[in-house]
Amino acid sequence: MCGIVGAAAERDVTPILIEGLRRLEYRGYDSAGLAVLNGQNNLERVRAAGKVSKLSEALESTPVNGRVGIAHTRWATHGAPTDRNAHPHICRDEVAIVHNGIIENFEALRETQLAQGYEFQSETDTEVVVHQIHRNMQGSGDLLAAVRATVAELEGAYALGIVSCNDPGRIIAARRGSPLVIGVGIGEHFIASDVFALLPVTQQFIFLEDGDIADIRRDSLRIYDLDGNLVERPIQRSELAADSADRGRYRHYMLKEIHEQPRAITDTLEGRLLDDHVLEAAFGPKAHDIFSQLARIQIVACGTSYHAGMVAKHWMETLAGLPCDVEVASEFRYRSHVVTPGTLFVTISQSGETADTLAALREAKNLGYAATLAICNAPESSLVRESDLTLMTRAGPEIGVASTKAFTTQLVALLLLTVATGRYHRLDKAGETAVVEALRRLPRSLEAALALEADIERLAEQFVDKNHTLFLGRGPQYPVAKEGALKLKEISYIHAEAYPAGELKHGPLALVDTEMPVVAVAPKDDLVEKLKSNLQEVRARGGVLYVFADAGVNLKSGDGYEVLRVPEVAEVIAPIVYTVPLQLLSYHVAVLKGTDVDQPRNLAKSVTVE
Ligand code: AGP
Repeated sequence: MCGIVGAAAERDVTPILIEGLRRLEYRGYDSAGLAVLNGQNNLERVRAAGKVSKLSEALESTPVNGRVGIAHTRWATHGAPTDRNAHPHICRDEVAIVHNGIIENFEALRETQLAQGYEFQSETDTEVVVHQIHRNMQGSGDLLAAVRATVAELEGAYALGIVSCNDPGRIIAARRGSPLVIGVGIGEHFIASDVFALLPVTQQFIFLEDGDIADIRRDSLRIYDLDGNLVERPIQRSELAADSADRGRYRHYMLKEIHEQPRAITDTLEGRLLDDHVLEAAFGPKAHDIFSQLARIQIVACGTSYHAGMVAKHWMETLAGLPCDVEVASEFRYRSHVVTPGTLFVTISQSGETADTLAALREAKNLGYAATLAICNAPESSLVRESDLTLMTRAGPEIGVASTKAFTTQLVALLLLTVATGRYHRLDKAGETAVVEALRRLPRSLEAALALEADIERLAEQFVDKNHTLFLGRGPQYPVAKEGALKLKEISYIHAEAYPAGELKHGPLALVDTEMPVVAVAPKDDLVEKLKSNLQEVRARGGVLYVFADAGVNLKSGDGYEVLRVPEVAEVIAPIVYTVPLQLLSYHVAVLKGTDVDQPRNLAKSVTVE
């Protein structure tokens, strides 16, 4: 999704802006640009479709320098990813803005502005904002007053950074619906859409709240709330090191993040287990009162996080004995609901800023849920701040667009939730002890699964020239199969679908031939014999099977089967362990295909628009 960086300093800000944009590349984007106020306080702008490296090249032939500036990576929504549509947008050489979000009333504003004589250079919704600020600046010449008047006229979501040569030395920042953070340096200030952009220049951050407008100069900072009151927002120190988002010895962030899973899971468990039980207080001080009264769970999330919710439904209903519903946020938010009294509303999100998930949470607050709980990897995110209870996954920064360690740590958090709520229902002491023991063994089980990488790398060669792949699983392994299919399509662009294996004969079996590899996840569990029958159905039609199974399943390679041995693990954690080989498979197929693994085409890391 789009990224913002801005700086007001006593040094040339162009290198800070470029490095900030580079550090935001993981969010996904298709053009980049920056504008600075030069030594004569004139606006100078450079933009380029494509990667930040192209913007850097453009800056080599057209250098721009200044002490105040704003920069942007754009993920196209309104208008193609061209130089012309890239931000910053400028009005009459006087005002420049960068914008994340979508302005919903841009058409009406555009009509009015055309009648007022403004000329449009782009197809974006953003351009109306810069013209409106320019118009509102006439008379007073005060940039802050003009932004305040403008945002009152906007409908939709925005994070904005604005500079003007008529009011130099100043950046005005504003947010509603899209995140924006202020970096506090020594005698300098910065803005960014997330802290990673600014880690080389500061560790001190102020997280703007919805409706805030900030008046930023090199040596001063004022923040006003939605009602225009001057407010103090706390300065928070980030624990992230500037190199925390580095690739280290790995070729891609995704591979690094796959290998970080044992550590990420150890961190996610730390302080949440005591001896043989799960600490309820890990969910917050109100957890006991809320969990002891629950009758039902409603989970809402998107993409990979939704798949985590699907696994949790199995755990909730089989282990905890709690009825559990799961729905994608973009559907949940636009339909009517019948809420059972005593239902906990659970959101799952890596970023905590996913627009649909956030909107669903806000909607849920008016629907009579008992409480809201966020499972999230971003402590300062809107989702965390707006929920009654939270459980942070401690995956650390996830830079690859394809979620890996975020997913497995979400599953760990959801298993902790299953225990913490299940003990008021079906889960007895022995059941809790068994889950806790399995969780404690999980990091080692994941190490063993990662050791399959060399075999999986070889297996990947069988997929590289294929156009389609089927993934099969049953029970809690069906969402694992869905996650495997999502990974493959996201980064290798091979069309992949997942089915509950029993559903195969009701249609998808028609697709099976020698050109359709079929991947199955088959740990030894109550359903594995049924799954084996489903695999026979595939084999009988000439389908080639790649099966991830443990030694207890009694399947051998040969005659159309390739079996990869996954370590034997407790049934409850099998969905987490079996996820890893599927991540590795997608990764190695994508590498062989030569795709952009960390920043796949058309996708964004944090989807902050609807
Ligand atoms: C997963 O690989 C995707 N990048 C995507 O499906 C992602 O999980 C989804 O957009 C939800 O993001 P969130 O967890 O940050 O809310």
